Amino acid sequence: MCGIVGVIGKGPAVPRLVDGLKRLEYRGYDSSGVATLVADRIQRRRAEGKIVNLEARLSQEPLDGTIGIAHTRWATHGVPNERNAHPHATGKVALVHNGIIENYRQLRDELTRAGHKFESETDSEVMAQLITHLLDQGLSPEDATAKALKRVEGAFALGILFDGHPDLLIGARRGSPLAVGWGQGEMFLGSDAMALAPMTDKISYLEEGDWVVLRRDNAVFHDETDKVVSREVRLTALSGALIGKGNHRHFMLKEIYEQPAVIGDTLNTMFNPATREIALPQLPFDIAKVPKITIIACGTSYYSALVAKYWFERVARVAVEIDIASEFRYREAPMPEGGLAIFISQSGETSDTLAALRYAKAQKQHVLAVVNVPESAMAREAHAVLHTHAGPEIGVASTKAFTCQLTVLACLAIATARARGAIDAATEAKLSAAIAEVPSRANEVMGHDGAIQQLAQKVMEARDILFIGRGTGFAIAMEGALKLKEISYIHAEGYAAGELKHGPIALIDETVPVIVIAPSDHLFEKTYSNMQEVMARGGRVIFLSDKEGIARIGDEAEATIEIPSVDPFVAPILYAIPVQLLAYHVAVLKGTDVDQPRNLAKSVTVE
Ligand code: AGP
Repeated sequence: MCGIVGVIGKGPAVPRLVDGLKRLEYRGYDSSGVATLVADRIQRRRAEGKIVNLEARLSQEPLDGTIGIAHTRWATHGVPNERNAHPHATGKVALVHNGIIENYRQLRDELTRAGHKFESETDSEVMAQLITHLLDQGLSPEDATAKALKRVEGAFALGILFDGHPDLLIGARRGSPLAVGWGQGEMFLGSDAMALAPMTDKISYLEEGDWVVLRRDNAVFHDETDKVVSREVRLTALSGALIGKGNHRHFMLKEIYEQPAVIGDTLNTMFNPATREIALPQLPFDIAKVPKITIIACGTSYYSALVAKYWFERVARVAVEIDIASEFRYREAPMPEGGLAIFISQSGETSDTLAALRYAKAQKQHVLAVVNVPESAMAREAHAVLHTHAGPEIGVASTKAFTCQLTVLACLAIATARARGAIDAATEAKLSAAIAEVPSRANEVMGHDGAIQQLAQKVMEARDILFIGRGTGFAIAMEGALKLKEISYIHAEGYAAGELKHGPIALIDETVPVIVIAPSDHLFEKTYSNMQEVMARGGRVIFLSDKEGIARIGDEAEATIEIPSVDPFVAPILYAIPVQLLAYHVAVLKGTDVDQPRNLAKSVTVE
């Protein structure tokens, strides 16, 4: 997604703007740019590709000025090149935008007829030209902005600079996140707290429809009716230090290896080590009385919802419906009043999931967010939040956030089962003990990294790769396929093992590796027979199981990875790790951009 930084400061703006952009690189982008006021006049530098290209441009043609805006662009309309890079500028306005302006064609035609000349193919430039048009009519920057916002349909986070106004920066938010940073005699604007962390830890988030007027000594917030409103100033926990890779080659590998620790950190907020019982934070609803649970998410977060469905139904005996947010938000699903709707999101900003959350709220659901970013929109809009304590996740491919989501959901399922009397004390103790040992078991799984790296050599040339499993193993098969395809660009599909004979088995031949997720649980024998169907057709089986499962199949598989023997309830948390490592090592061998894979963004804040 695009990234926005704005500075209205005392010293040179450009170094802080570029540093802010670097802290937003993880969001994914394909061009970048900055604009400042030099002697009160708008000046711009933009570059295609990585931020290093912008820095090269700036070293050739430096930009002065103590006020400016900057942007990393993830192209939606218009190819990624310098001409389409932000900031977009007219003689009077420079503007950066994250989001999609749905009615940009109509506005572009109207403004072209009024004599405005467009330089780019983007939707965003329409905003700059529209504000300019209103300035031409004599409106003040504030009034022109307020009026323009009402003409525009779609999602935006905006940073706007005005020629001849060295003490004015305007921001606006509808659908895409935007934060104000409070400094000493200087103010900042950023897509998230991460971008602003080196400059301040005092953050205010714009709410839906807000726009804000920044001057060096204050910020005036307006809601969508232009009424002046106040917005809370929060202290962000993010450090100013640029999140580093440690001694790892990529953020993704660092974050895979952080999992035992961050799963432990997350567990510590949900588990009483003295009583060895699940101890959830207080929730504003009675989990024992909800008639139904609906879980909504996207991508990897959706696969944690899929695991959770099996857990809640089997252990807590409560009906669960899951769906991907982009479908759910338009389904107009009937929802029983008093139901529990859970929204899972690493970023807490995913546009489809946020829209689904708002629908569920309108349907009088108890709304619970499971997020990794405490200050995110979902955390602010839900009735209750259960935090994953994965720490900032920079790699576009989600890893530690996923296993921390599973940790939260596993604890919630056990607590729900206890509250509903669906399990006895002995079962609760067994499940709690199983979850308590996950961090140390996850550490053991890391010991297989070398074997998985070898495995990656065996599969890296494949054109198609299948992942199969049953029950929660099916969810991990889906997640493993997503991990592999999104960073190695190899076509991979996850399938319920029992579905193979209903079509996908036609794909099987000696060129197709099949990764079988098969912990020794009540479905093992079924999965084993599916594996034999694959091998009978020459398929190459790579078998993920525990000691017992591997002993059961002997040397039938091409390769095996032994996962520690654990209670089947917590198996999906551990089996997620080898499929993450496999995807990582294949991607490294393929030479792809592991942390920022092509076409992808870390937080999808447009629909
Ligand atoms: C995961 O590896 C992907 N990068 C992507 O599917 C991601 O899980 C999805 O976009 C949801 O993001 P969220 O968890 O921040 O809502």
